[in-house]
Amino acid sequence: MTMPDHSAPFFDALLTSAQRLSFDLREIGAADDALEGCSYGMTPEWSPLFETSIWADLSEQDRQELTKREVAHFLGVAIWLEVALQIVLLRRNHSADPTRSEVKFLFNECADENLHSLMFAQAIEQLGQRHCRLDRSMKAAGWLFRTFAWGEVAYAIVLAGEEIFDVMQRDWAADERVALAVRRSSYVHVVEESRHMSFARQKIRDHLAAVSRVRRYISAIAIAIGAHIIAKGLINQRVYEGAGMPWQAAKHAIDHNEHHRMMFRRAAEPFTEFLAGEQLLNTPARAIYRMSNLL
Ligand SMILES: [Fe+2]
Ligand SMILES: [Fe+2]
Repeated sequence: MTMPDHSAPFFDALLTSAQRLSFDLREIGAADDALEGCSYGMTPEWSPLFETSIWADLSEQDRQELTKREVAHFLGVAIWLEVALQIVLLRRNHSADPTRSEVKFLFNECADENLHSLMFAQAIEQLGQRHCRLDRSMKAAGWLFRTFAWGEVAYAIVLAGEEIFDVMQRDWAADERVALAVRRSSYVHVVEESRHMSFARQKIRDHLAAVSRVRRYISAIAIAIGAHIIAKGLINQRVYEGAGMPWQAAKHAIDHNEHHRMMFRRAAEPFTEFLAGEQLLNTPARAIYRMSNLL
């Protein structure tokens, strides 16, 4: 579908902002190990187990270790999203006119995302963690997304991931209890993602301008399923088993943790507000967001 050109000045402004404000953490060495040893992997309130009886029984050191495992997995999901985003968006623009403002911005966004993935991979290592294998269902969902996601659905699922990480990482970047590798990478990510989110919102609006009500209805449900998979994918059995916890007990505690639900709802708030404004929050979509604790 040919997009209207009236958004070109908007995409040009985003590109100018990218030229003014971009980071590259490749030159920065590992954080001080002694300092990293006694810090949290992320703001503890973001741990899905925070405020549960399991959390209450953990020592301070165990809580720090658990949040390192959890954040290493969260960052693994972030990388998974960034790579999926590039595949889907580059594929859609393979034969596009590369001098169009939006295509130039997309090239810049992919450059950002590659450096983010590298930065997150380094942060996982600096925390002394390993990549946690993703669930098979998530891998299958990734294939579906990469292969079939269309226009507004592709951009909105990308936006869901970006918005959720934005809210969490604003907390992590500002929290002195959190390991430096995570604080630093979160700060860079929050700054650079703000233009990606503006780009995605504009692209969604451009796509929606030309779609029928039926397609909008179906797209809203597809977006909700995508966001559901991201939210559920953040909780990984291997993280908790790796921390020496029986999975069923950890899962039960997380599923019944009102604090965790409240934090996820908070993380999704800017995203669901945007969806409501674009009439992408119909009844089945709402039901899915409630199931994912995102509404
Ligand atoms: Fe990113
Ligand atoms: Fe992004």
